Amino acid sequence: MRSPSSAARSRSGRELPARVRAGLPPPSRRHGPRLMEAATTVPRLSWPDFLDAFHWEQGEHVTLIARTKGGKTTLARELLATQPYAAFFATKPKGQDPVVEELRREGFVTVRDWTPISDPELTPRVVLEPGLPNGEDSLSQQSAAFRNAIRGIHRQGGWTVCVDEGLYMVQELGLSRPLELLWYQGRSGGVSLIFSTQRPRNVPLLAYDQATHIFLWKNADRQHLDRLSEIAGAFDAETIRRELPQLGPHEILYVNTWTGQLARTRVEL
Ligand SMILES: Nc1ncnc2c1ncn2[C@@H]1O[C@H](COP(=O)(O)OP(=O)(O)OP(=O)(O)O)[C@@H](O)[C@H]1O
Ligand SMILES: [Mg+2]
Repeated sequence: MRSPSSAARSRSGRELPARVRAGLPPPSRRHGPRLMEAATTVPRLSWPDFLDAFHWEQGEHVTLIARTKGGKTTLARELLATQPYAAFFATKPKGQDPVVEELRREGFVTVRDWTPISDPELTPRVVLEPGLPNGEDSLSQQSAAFRNAIRGIHRQGGWTVCVDEGLYMVQELGLSRPLELLWYQGRSGGVSLIFSTQRPRNVPLLAYDQATHIFLWKNADRQHLDRLSEIAGAFDAETIRRELPQLGPHEILYVNTWTGQLARTRVEL
């Protein structure tokens, strides 16, 4: 299902690594680049070096946790840009999310519901924007549109889905269960979920348990640090606790929950 696409470049137009352009699978962890080490000294990588070393296989999930304006949407869009089949779930009322307009200019097709999207090959880049035509009265309609899309995406396979306002999707729209379907079964169905949230609490545990890749931004709140080092620090909670308060503006601490690899980086705009 997944093949290299001409759209699969970084947003800034940067060429993707040769193996991605060639449609090769990522190098195995044993033989891949060793830029990111499971060590207590966390390497600082430029954004291109990070992308080169970042092994993200289809079906692996990504969780982003940053306070407001940290850079979640910016990173999510960078990650989506590397994927051949990308779906962005837009939750704001129609016309109120500048990101939707920017994605449209990048070639994304905007739809109000998933029904016309039958094949990722035909429409590989989609913004699903159900809108909220009647304010709060439309919440159940909005919820149904995302639920229906998640079903379709699960059936079709191959997609990378970005749920950029995770807490809203879970708390306001009650979409924990359908998201759990993707977290649990995404791997076998080849669907990757990018889930972003402002706080480490009140989100389904699967956002952490099922995420192979976790991206964290600066945080010095003691309770948050406890939680973040607990959820992302299976290998080295102490390092995560030490690094997070030290991060600069828009700087990211990357954690691979499978390998324990850590890296500091910052998206280059
Ligand atoms: N790496 C970066 N370098 C410079 N500016 C950045 C970087 N990342 C994000 N920004 C800027 O910071 C602002 C907030 O970024 P973004 O919208 O991605 O944050 P967010 O975490 O999604 O915010 P929110 O919680 O409000 O959705 C934007 O103006 C964006 O351009
Ligand atoms: Mg955002």
